[in-house]
Amino acid sequence: MTIRVAVIGCGGMGSWHAGNLAAQPGVDVVAVADVYEPSAAAVAEQTGASVMDAHAAIEAADAVLIASSDDTHAEFAIAAIEAGKWCFLEKPLGATLDQAQRVLDAEIASGRIHTRVGFMRELDPAHAQVAAAAAELGHLTRVRSVHRNVDGERREVGLLFAQSLIHDIHTIRWLSGREFARVTVHVAERPDGFRDVLLVGGLVGGGLGVIDFEDQAFAYEVQVEVTGELGMAATVPHPRAIIRSQATESMIVGTDWFARFQDAYRLEIEQWCADLAVGVSSGPTVWDGFAAQVVAAAGEQAMLAGQPVEVVLPARPSIYERTPDPIREDQP
Ligand SMILES: NC(=O)c1ccc[n+]([C@@H]2O[C@H](COP(=O)([O-])OP(=O)(O)OC[C@H]3O[C@@H](n4cnc5c(N)ncnc54)[C@H](O)[C@@H]3O)[C@@H](O)[C@H]2O)c1
Repeated sequence: MTIRVAVIGCGGMGSWHAGNLAAQPGVDVVAVADVYEPSAAAVAEQTGASVMDAHAAIEAADAVLIASSDDTHAEFAIAAIEAGKWCFLEKPLGATLDQAQRVLDAEIASGRIHTRVGFMRELDPAHAQVAAAAAELGHLTRVRSVHRNVDGERREVGLLFAQSLIHDIHTIRWLSGREFARVTVHVAERPDGFRDVLLVGGLVGGGLGVIDFEDQAFAYEVQVEVTGELGMAATVPHPRAIIRSQATESMIVGTDWFARFQDAYRLEIEQWCADLAVGVSSGPTVWDGFAAQVVAAAGEQAMLAGQPVEVVLPARPSIYERTPDPIREDQP
């Protein structure tokens, strides 16, 4: 059986995902949509899809990949969920917490998980090795994510959290198997207006989630480190060539976030397509997207208020209950 997929949003991420989708057996990219016609036309040519309005594209497909701008995610995700379509939704769930809540409500009302959220670090081979190693570390006491960004443009505080730190928040929730209970945020304002952010979260059941974020660093880097009572596990720097010249040895770190996670983006689409073939949705859920966005909003509030903020999450809805994950079984 061939799965018909629609891609909404044909910019940087959408065009990359579309190329990966088109390479999957049993998948046909039948429709693409973008308000900027040349982008839709380019991806249509690349995949053989037809260009359509976003809602017509949802109608024409069995599964929908949403990679349009953040403020459109909720509208398209809710339409896809209500039409009973499988969905791959780029993070965040929405531009606001209210939009994120509406996506969560729609999926709960549908009674089943339709949607995978694009927290691709779970598929990054280095992060996956840390996740496997974490199972052997006994009770976890700390997960620390270092995120050096090279964006080139200053963003308002809310966007730092909702667009960038949300990945680190998800990583900490995923690797610890725990929710954030409260967050404290320290900020260093640089003379050029960029900010270095240190978020320290207390986790439900104990332990710390720490995010060390630079918005405009010397290079793009993401590292994670998990500490438990029996030891620690950390990612190694992304493999790069060593260059020896003029009596020195060096390694280019690079500024390209896309190159760092290129394999993870491919692997998450491969996993999504394998799931579609058997009619399940695995990986990060709308609940994960919502919980991370609640923490991001608390982080923004804590930064602006200059004091700790409690993270208020509702109980995990029953459709998101899963069999215990091996790395989480020892956790309180
Ligand atoms: N998972 C990750 O690591 C990661 C990385 C980058 C971006 N993202 C997310 O992916 C999404 C896309 O980011 P991007 O970097 O590709 O941005 P982009 O600006 O390159 O692409 C967004 C596209 O959406 C289109 N669009 C906007 N409104 C639309 C609408 N109403 N209908 C159809 N198309 C519409 C735009 O014309 C544009 O082509 C964002 O939500 C972003 O947060 C995720």
